[in-house]
Amino acid sequence: MTTDYHSHILPNIDDGSDSIKTSLKMIKMMKQQGIGIIVATPHFYMHREVSLDSYLVKRQNAYEKLMASDPAVKDIHIGAEVAIEKGISVLGELEKLCISGTRLILLEPPFTQYNSWIVEEIDEIANSRRLIPIIAHVHRYMGVYSKSDLKSLMSVDAVFQINAEAFEHFSTRRFVNKLISSGRDFVFGSDAHDLDDRKPNFDLIAKRSGSENIRRSDKVLMSAMADEERMFAF
Ligand SMILES: [Fe+2]
Repeated sequence: MTTDYHSHILPNIDDGSDSIKTSLKMIKMMKQQGIGIIVATPHFYMHREVSLDSYLVKRQNAYEKLMASDPAVKDIHIGAEVAIEKGISVLGELEKLCISGTRLILLEPPFTQYNSWIVEEIDEIANSRRLIPIIAHVHRYMGVYSKSDLKSLMSVDAVFQINAEAFEHFSTRRFVNKLISSGRDFVFGSDAHDLDDRKPNFDLIAKRSGSENIRRSDKVLMSAMADEERMFAF
C-alpha cells in the first residue's frame, strides 16, 4: 500500500493539525491522492518534553481521539519525528518512538550548523540501539549544510526520507533523483502539517517520480514489519 512516511496529522500535538476537523480533511486529501498507510510523526524534542512517557501519553490520546472521531479512519501507523540532539542515542526506551511494529525511526537533523556529533548520534542509534534510522527530508539540508557536511550526513547507514516538495525545484529534484538512482534505501513523505502552505501533496511524487519508485519506498515499511514479526516468532 502506498505509504506516506512523514505527516503531522495527529490533532493538537505539535505545529501540525490544529483540530480533529483539520486532521480528517487532511486524511481525506491523502486518501484521494492514493495513500493507503499514513505514518503519523509528531515532533519529539527531547529537551522540550517533560519525559518520554508524557510524550507517549499525549500522542496516544491524540491518536485515540482521531480514531474515535470517524470509523472510516484506519491504517494510521504511529511514529515520531525525533529531533537529533546530543544524547538522543542514549535516551531510555528510544525504541518506543519507532514506527509501530518496526525498528524504523524517523530522525530530524538540526537545521543549524552541521556538527560531527550529529552523525555520531545517528551511528549510535543504528549500531548500539539496533534501530533503523530514517533521515527526515534529507534534501532540505542542501541549503543549510556545506557540500562536504551534507556528504558526511549521507555517509550514515540509514534510509533517506524525501518530501514531495523536493520534486518542485530543480536542484533538490536533481539531488533526490541521484539518491534514488544510487540504489540506496529511501522513503517518501508529504510532511503535511495543515490544509494551506503545507497541505498533503503526495500526488506530486506520483507525478514527478513515478509508481516504481513509490513501490520501492513502500517496500521499506513492509520488510521492516516482516523483520520484526520474524524476530518475535523465535
Ligand atoms: Fe515533519
